[in-house]
Amino acid sequence: MANQNILLNFDRNGANHTLENYLKRKGYSTLSEKIPNMKPEQVLDEVKKSGIRGRGGAGFPAGIKWSFLPKDSDKPVYLICNGDEGEPGTFKDRVILEENPHMLIEGMILAAYAINAKHCYIYIRGEYGFALQRVQQAVDEAYRAGYLGKKLTGANYSCDITVHKGAGAYVVGDETGLMNSIEGKKGQTRNKPPFPAVEGLYQCPTIINNVETLASVPWIIDHGGAAYHSIGTEKSSGTKLLSISGHVRKPGVYEVDLGYPFMDFLNKDCGGVIGNRKLKAVIPGGSSTPVLRPEDCEKITIDYESIAEAGSSLGSGAILIIAEGSCMVKTLEVLTHFYHHESCGQCTPCREGTGWLHKIVKRIEAGQGKMEDLDLLTSITKHIAFHTICPLGDAACGPVDSFVKKFKDEFIEHIKTGGCPFGGKFVRFQERV
Ligand SMILES: Cc1cc2nc3c(=O)[nH]c(=O)nc-3n(C[C@H](O)[C@H](O)[C@H](O)COP(=O)(O)O)c2cc1C
Repeated sequence: MANQNILLNFDRNGANHTLENYLKRKGYSTLSEKIPNMKPEQVLDEVKKSGIRGRGGAGFPAGIKWSFLPKDSDKPVYLICNGDEGEPGTFKDRVILEENPHMLIEGMILAAYAINAKHCYIYIRGEYGFALQRVQQAVDEAYRAGYLGKKLTGANYSCDITVHKGAGAYVVGDETGLMNSIEGKKGQTRNKPPFPAVEGLYQCPTIINNVETLASVPWIIDHGGAAYHSIGTEKSSGTKLLSISGHVRKPGVYEVDLGYPFMDFLNKDCGGVIGNRKLKAVIPGGSSTPVLRPEDCEKITIDYESIAEAGSSLGSGAILIIAEGSCMVKTLEVLTHFYHHESCGQCTPCREGTGWLHKIVKRIEAGQGKMEDLDLLTSITKHIAFHTICPLGDAACGPVDSFVKKFKDEFIEHIKTGGCPFGGKFVRFQERV
């Protein structure tokens, strides 16, 4: 099955980030040629028809989210692009930010037009220094060429973009934490409701979308929502960027049509597991998504429904391949440490509970665990998940429950033998390859 190139429609070795290069790829032509003949409602309608689901993790349909904006508000509307990308193993937005920033900018201008936003933000994690530099450079170029600012080239409206640098906290990837961060407040999340579409940045109606979601908009408006919807599956339309890392021969960022068989992707596109080792486990959508065993992976296609049916989630599309010989307890120890470290401390179940999870998994890995620890772990997750303001608490629990359930024998072996049978070997989550 040949996959489409919507977002990675360029030679990855070239200077694709420049305006000159983007214009050669017919960049900004959707804005200049289509928009003068389209009303904002028509742009929104095409995005709805495309069925594109948010690519930041939750998979909520973008067009429906945009239509939640109040019709009768006289407050300004804001559009925010979420480029925080802090989930371990996720590095797909980085490619757009560093290599194709003008496509994102064009997508944001089109989205801003559809929702009547005059001011947009691109929030990029502070660790992404090079991406920040590239995006700022592209925004500056777009201003100079008249694609941003007052009365845009080819369109009768104005749009400004501010690039905002994060300070390195996973929790501000959550949309409400992100808005607090832009407002200069502590990077902690807000209770919902009110939802951002009603009361978001500076208490004004706000739409927040992932980098990949917004970068897909020029293609959708250029080819029409129906054309986008015809790619992928009925409920998971379009293409998806995947960042694959770990024990895989050709790690990297790939674009596939949703509905693509997982094992074809792993073996044909990515060269299979390194060193001809046997596949032991797969984390399919970023560190917070439940782990799958090889037999689960045989059946899945890469889309929201199929992976959910297997008991996990497509999430941000970050696939971690774990080969035989790696310790699942040590891998979970690394993950629980991450979630404890990143808990913002606002909610007691998350602040305290993530620390307990880490402590218990650490002692099992060190050979000092007790059989009761296994039930204790799942009992703690029951008290964290869905008892916190934001889903970071839930995210911390998904791996714990699934690792204990799917690799119970391995946890028991650690406890019974009083040590790690794998010498503590594990696969690292990568930030880029
Ligand atoms: C702890 C946490 C971290 C998150 N990190 C990100 C992130 O880095 N990028 C992202 O787009 N969404 C992230 N999200 C999801 C956002 O809250 C939000 O749903 C998303 O940006 C909406 O965009 P989309 O609809 O285009 O997916 C995170 C959520 C949580 C709870």
